[in-house]
Amino acid sequence: MSDKKTYYITTPIYYPSDNLHIGHAYCTVAADAEARFRRLEGYDVMFLTGTDEHGQKIERKAIEAGKTPKQYVDDIVEGILELWKVLNISNDRFIRTTDDYHVKAVQKIFKELYDRGDIYKNEYEGWYCTPCESFWTEHQLVDGKCPDCGREVELTKEESYFFRLSKYQKRLEELYEKNPNFISPQSRLNEMLSNFIRPGLDDLCVSRTSFKWGIPVTFDDKHIVYVWVDALSNYITALGYGSDDDSLYRKYWPAQVHLVGKEIVRFHTIIWPAMLMALDLPVPEMVFGHGWLLLEGGKMSKSKGNVVDPLVLCERYGTDAIRYFLLREVPFGSDGVFSNEALINRINSDLANDLGNLVSRTLTMSEKYFNNEITASGVTDPLDDELKAVAAEAVSKYAGLMEQLLFSNAFSEVFRLVSRANKYIDETMPWKLAKDEASRGRLQQVLYNLCEALRIVAILCQPAMPDTSAKILSYLGVDEADCTWDTAANFGATKAFHTSKGEILFPRIDLEKELDALEKDKKKRAAEAEKAAKKAEKAAKKAHHGEEAPAEITIDDFAKLDLRVAEVTACEVVPNSDKLLKLTLRVGDETRTIASSIRPWYSPEELVGRHIIIVANLKPAVFRGVESHGMLLACDNTEDDCKLIFADDCTPGRKVR
Ligand code: MSP
Repeated sequence: MSDKKTYYITTPIYYPSDNLHIGHAYCTVAADAEARFRRLEGYDVMFLTGTDEHGQKIERKAIEAGKTPKQYVDDIVEGILELWKVLNISNDRFIRTTDDYHVKAVQKIFKELYDRGDIYKNEYEGWYCTPCESFWTEHQLVDGKCPDCGREVELTKEESYFFRLSKYQKRLEELYEKNPNFISPQSRLNEMLSNFIRPGLDDLCVSRTSFKWGIPVTFDDKHIVYVWVDALSNYITALGYGSDDDSLYRKYWPAQVHLVGKEIVRFHTIIWPAMLMALDLPVPEMVFGHGWLLLEGGKMSKSKGNVVDPLVLCERYGTDAIRYFLLREVPFGSDGVFSNEALINRINSDLANDLGNLVSRTLTMSEKYFNNEITASGVTDPLDDELKAVAAEAVSKYAGLMEQLLFSNAFSEVFRLVSRANKYIDETMPWKLAKDEASRGRLQQVLYNLCEALRIVAILCQPAMPDTSAKILSYLGVDEADCTWDTAANFGATKAFHTSKGEILFPRIDLEKELDALEKDKKKRAAEAEKAAKKAEKAAKKAHHGEEAPAEITIDDFAKLDLRVAEVTACEVVPNSDKLLKLTLRVGDETRTIASSIRPWYSPEELVGRHIIIVANLKPAVFRGVESHGMLLACDNTEDDCKLIFADDCTPGRKVR
């Protein structure tokens, strides 16, 4: 085994529920830059990312798309892998929570927690937010809605398994106290303490029975494992924990850092360490909660129609420019606003002007004055010491900042060196030196110093802009493999440069023209997306109307349905819902309640007294607080009309077959 120090870094595993947007790319690019930096420093790095594929949200999306959940996620994961390829993400492993080894390991973890007495069975009643896959108590809701995303929640009542989270309250508090960086930055620690820890931790519901798309509990397969228990476990199952070969787990765990967005810090800093404590495993060293990349008008979301597609940006401006912008523009712990204007300005000022100019001026002069062969002449000047001092300072500050994940500040140091080197050209005036043969030695030293400065800049840029860094080194004629981290702090490490003038690294962008073009492009894409959505909706409706025949069933399958005639004895509107009516029904001697989304087509008055057909043996479900026992038979008559199937001549309670 190598004696290199290990460094294990993770991103969250992403929900494959939609195309990923620039906000998702933000975290992955940051993790990638840190992973590349640590490799450069000489660490043996394990960088993990992946996809979080179970849960009710995915199950529903798959149904909407007319696919099985696995087909649905397979298609989306392909796109995610493609995006990471385009963004030049250097992950060492990619985990999918539908991977067999993960499923088995999660089942073992769940059983182990149960055997240790940290998971027990009880009855759960509470509010569930499907988009966030989170449970909330009544008092945690804000205006009756999910406190995280503001969307509707559903009252859920089911037999569930619970994790004894409350038991770990004290140990968690000790963890935070002894390791002040465990929750970083500091502001996130304060949020966790005041919002969750101080009010007291409740035990956590960790299984579900109301849907199927998840990992079954081995000893009670009616239950599936709560998606966050499933997802958080990825950080160790990806390393083989719970499998026959756990060598990677033993080598890399505990992780040095989990990078996560601020809204999921609580899962990573409360539930995850408590789970690990319950399993007697070490906890990660740090959970870093970064801010959100917002658009004017709020967080990016598909439903708001304000997502920015990273593929489009990479295609237009190049991957390195996007990576650099993401790391440089916004301090990593804070929220930041994305705008095309800020992106273009950043590309123009830092990359096209400052870096681009330094590269092209140096290489042009090397060719013009020395036929591309540069070595030191030893004819020095105090100005050289200043340049060297700025380079040395940049390297040491950069390292400290990168180690703290302060990417923006770290790259601001690199660009301080770039500016200093540009200023060095203005001060030394090589074009003047070139006019006087007696200054040739000095001119040679100036160009050597510029090549050295550029070599150091290229090394420091490598985590953010790997391709650009490689290009600069190749233009300087130095071998990338020789540009190790130690050589960044050693001005003079390269003895000879054999330069060549390459392509322009970052062409300058005309802001006005580009913004215009982007606006047109946006409109075009919106029109295309609308067209595609309409087409998909039409196809789904077509399938729904039976024009595409569903799979054959046997008479035994049909016999499983208990269809009955029912009389509507009362009917009322469900408060706070545009769609739901609550129907009281007489089915033979029995009275039952059904909530149905037929309010857009029927008023309560016109239904009372009518006989309808219901599915009587459907599993009860709660809609907006109404416990519904069954379903009404109805026909999607046109795209926006629905008709109930009336059976006024038939007797309530009689079977329909
Ligand atoms: N599946 C969970 C994570 C499980 S980790 C064990 C999840 N997935 S997610 O796809 O919804 O989000 C993944 C990450 O993307 C989160 O860290 C989230 O904060 C981040 N972002 C999503 N939108 C974002 C922005 N607009 N800006 C920055 N990060 C954002 O949560």
